[in-house]
Amino acid sequence: MSETQTETQTETAAEREAALGGIGCDKQRKEDARFIRGQGNYVDDIKLPNMVFGDFVRSPHAHARIKSIDAEKAKAVPGVIAVLTADDLKPLNLHWMPTLAGDTQAVLADEKVHFQNQEVAFVIAEDRYAAADGIQLVEVEYEELPVLIDPKAALEDDAPILREDVKDNDEVGQGPRRHPNHIFNWQSGDKDATDRAFDGAAVTVMEEMFYQRVHPAPIETCGCVASMDPVGGRLTLYGTFQAPHVVRTVVSLISGLAESNIRVVSPDVGGGFGNKVGPYPGYVCAVVGSIVLGRPVKWIESRIDNISTTAFARDYHMSCELAADKDGRITGLRANVLADHGAFNTHAQPMKWPAGFFNIVTGSYDIPAAHVTVDGVYTNKAPGGVAYRCSFRVAEAAYLIERMLDVLAQKVGVDKAEIRLRNFIKAEQFPYQSCLGWEYDSGDYTTALKQAMAAVGYDDLRKEQAEKRARGELMGIGIATFTEIVGAGPSRNCDILGIKMFESCEIRVHPTGSAIARLGTKSTGQGHETTYAQIIASEIGIPSDLITVEEGDTDTAPYGLGTYGSRTTPVGAAAAVRAGRKIREKAKKIAAHMLEVSESDLEWDVDRFTVKGVPDLSATMKDIAMAAYSNLPEGLEPGLEVVDYYDPPNMTYPFGAYICVVDIDRHTGEVSVRKFYALDDCGTRINPMIIEGQVHGGLTEAFAIAMGQEIVYDEIGNVLGASLLDYFLPTAVETPHWETDFTVTPSPHHPIGAKGVGESPNVGGVPALSNAIVDAFAHLDVTHMPMPHTAWRVWQTCHELGIDK
Ligand code: CDP
Repeated sequence: MSETQTETQTETAAEREAALGGIGCDKQRKEDARFIRGQGNYVDDIKLPNMVFGDFVRSPHAHARIKSIDAEKAKAVPGVIAVLTADDLKPLNLHWMPTLAGDTQAVLADEKVHFQNQEVAFVIAEDRYAAADGIQLVEVEYEELPVLIDPKAALEDDAPILREDVKDNDEVGQGPRRHPNHIFNWQSGDKDATDRAFDGAAVTVMEEMFYQRVHPAPIETCGCVASMDPVGGRLTLYGTFQAPHVVRTVVSLISGLAESNIRVVSPDVGGGFGNKVGPYPGYVCAVVGSIVLGRPVKWIESRIDNISTTAFARDYHMSCELAADKDGRITGLRANVLADHGAFNTHAQPMKWPAGFFNIVTGSYDIPAAHVTVDGVYTNKAPGGVAYRCSFRVAEAAYLIERMLDVLAQKVGVDKAEIRLRNFIKAEQFPYQSCLGWEYDSGDYTTALKQAMAAVGYDDLRKEQAEKRARGELMGIGIATFTEIVGAGPSRNCDILGIKMFESCEIRVHPTGSAIARLGTKSTGQGHETTYAQIIASEIGIPSDLITVEEGDTDTAPYGLGTYGSRTTPVGAAAAVRAGRKIREKAKKIAAHMLEVSESDLEWDVDRFTVKGVPDLSATMKDIAMAAYSNLPEGLEPGLEVVDYYDPPNMTYPFGAYICVVDIDRHTGEVSVRKFYALDDCGTRINPMIIEGQVHGGLTEAFAIAMGQEIVYDEIGNVLGASLLDYFLPTAVETPHWETDFTVTPSPHHPIGAKGVGESPNVGGVPALSNAIVDAFAHLDVTHMPMPHTAWRVWQTCHELGIDK
C-alpha cells in the first residue's frame, strides 16, 4: 500500500469528500484569482508582432443606394495601409456571408445599405488612430431610399422592398414567404382545438404586448485578432466567441481554408449574453485583411458600434388571448407574434426553430389547447434576434404568459397568486407533455410558490396594499412563476448548420494524480473553471483544486457547440460527468490489478476503490493514476484519458417563483423596488455561491430591461441611444437588493439531476417587475403598461388616470 493511503486512512469518508471540493460546495471561483488582479487575458490584450488595426466606415443612412465610394484621400493618410470595400471582397466571394439562420448578410454593403451604421468599408492602418482618421476621409455617395421601421408597415402591399437580393428566395425563411419583406411564418399547436376552447369559454381576455428591442450589454464589446501565417498557411483567429468551434467551421466554409488550417481561440471573454454567438463582418474583414497583408489584423468594436450593429434581442410584437372557465382555469391560449428581425435574418438558434423556443409559452400552466404563430419581418434596423441571457425566445414567452395570468386574474377577480395555484401543472403530472409539444422533465411549482409567499409574507403585503390604495398610494406586488427550457439540445431537433448540438469533455489524468479537462463550451464569466472541476472531482475522486479546466481553444478542446441558452449545465456538465465515469471504469480495472482482486470485489468510496468488506484494502485515485502509466494489467492500454460526447435525451426545465414589491410615486412616476425575492429551482446545485451570483447578475439585467433598456429608432432609421449615456446599464447605485432562495427538483434524465440557472433570473425577473408595476394600478382597471417602465412612462399612466396631482 502507498504512503498516500496511509496518510489518509484515518480520515472519514465525509472528511475525504470535503477535501475534494466537489459538487454542492461553495467553492470560491478559481478564475477570480486573475480577474480581481486585472490579469485576465481578453482579446484586446493580445498584441502580436507586426499587428495592424481595422475599423469600419459605417452608413449614416438606414436605407440608401451606394452610388460611389472614393477611398483615395483615406489611403493618403499616414499609417493607412488599405481600404476594403465590397468590390474588393467580390472576387473572393466574401462580400456576403451566410448567417446561422439560413439567410445571408452583407459583410460590406453591396450596392445598398439596409440599416444605420451598417459596415460599408474596412480601413486597415498601422494603429487605431490612423484607422479612425482614414474612416473620416472615405467618401461615400448615397441615394436615400424610403425607410421601414415599423414591421407592420413593412408587410403592406406598397411597402418598399428592403432585401432586393432575396426578394424571390424562399430559402432565407426556410419556407414560403407572403411578401418580399416577410421572412418566415412559423406555427405551433392545434388551431382547431384552440378555436373550440375559445368558442365555449366562459371568460376570455386579450392583450397586446411589445417586448421592446434590447441589446445584450457585455462589459467587453466584440472583437478579434486574425493572424494568417503566410508561410505555413495557417490562420489563427482570436476572438470574443461564445462558440469557437462553430466559428471555425463557418470560417472554413466561407473562406475555403481547410478546417485543420484554422485555429480559433476564445481567450477570457467579458460577458456574452448571446451577443457573441454569431459571426460578424468584423471577423471576416480581419481575416481577409490578414490573408491579403500577411500581418495580424485586430478589430475591436466601440460601444456605439456594439449596441447599434451587433445582435439585438427581443423586438416581439405579441398579441395573446386566454380562454378560461369562470374560476379562471385556463382552457385555451392563442398567441400571434410579429418578429422584427431587422435587415438580415441573423438570429442564432437551432435551425429548426425560427422563433426559438417561443412555444414554451404555456409556461408553468396546464393548458389543454394552444396555437401560436410567429411571422418574421425585415426592417431597416440592425440584424439579430439573439437570446439575451435566455434560451431562444423563452424570455418573450415567459413575459407574455406571466403578464397574461395577471390580466386574467384581474378579469375574473381572483388573486394573482391564487390564479397561478389553480392553473399550475401539478407535481404528480411530471414528466408533463405540453400541448405545444414539449416534455417537461420535472417540477414542483406549487411548493415553490407557497414557499415564496410564506417568505415574503404575501397575505400581509396584500393587506398593506389595500390600506395604501385607500390612502391613494401606489404599491404593487408582482409574481412570476416561470418555467425555462434550457440545454439545447437533443440531436433529434437541435442543430446549427446541420451540426447536432451535443457537447463534449475530454479528461486526462496525469501520473502524479492531478488532471486536465477540456470542453467544447466557453465561459464568458460564469465560473466554468470552478464548477466543471467540482463535478469532475466528485466523479473521479481527485480534488477540484488539482483539476485544470480549459475551454475555448479549438486546437485542444474537443468539438462542442459552445455556451448560450444555459447549455453548460444540462449538456456540458453531463459530458463532464460521463467522462469522469469513463475514467472511473478504467481506474477500476487498474485498481483490481493493483489489489489482486476481481473488479466485482471493488466498490467506489469517494476517492478510492475499496475491497468490499475489507475497508483497509484500497487503492486511491492518486495511486491508480500513477499505476495507469507504470503498473498495468496485461492487455490494458496505458494512460488514463477519455473523451465523451453527450447528446441529451431532452431539455431541462428549471423554474422559479419570484415576488417583487414596488412603491410608486404618483407625482413623478418613479418606481422603487422595495423587495425582490427570487426562488430558483435548477435541480442539483453544483456551486450554490456561483448560482447566487448568477441569479444576482440575471436579476440585475432583468431590472435593466424592465426599467430602462430599449433600442429606439426614429422614423428615418436613426438609432437613438446607442451609447451607455442613453442605454440603461444599472450600477450598484440603482440596483435593488436581491433575496435568493431555492428548492431542488432534480432532472430525471440528467446524469446528476442538474438543470441550468444562469438565464432564469432574466427570464423570470422581467415579468415579476413588470407585473408589480401594473399591479400598482390594477385597482384603477389598468391591465397592461408597456416596457420599459421609465419614470416618464409611468408618470404618463398616472397623468392619464388623473392621479398625478
Ligand atoms: O451555459 P451557462 O454557463 O451560461 O449557464 P448555466 O448552465 O446556467 O451555468 C451557469 C453557472 O452556474 C455555471 O458555472 C454552472 O456550473 C453553475 N450552476 C450550478 O452551480 N448548478 C446548477 N444546477 C446550474 C448551474
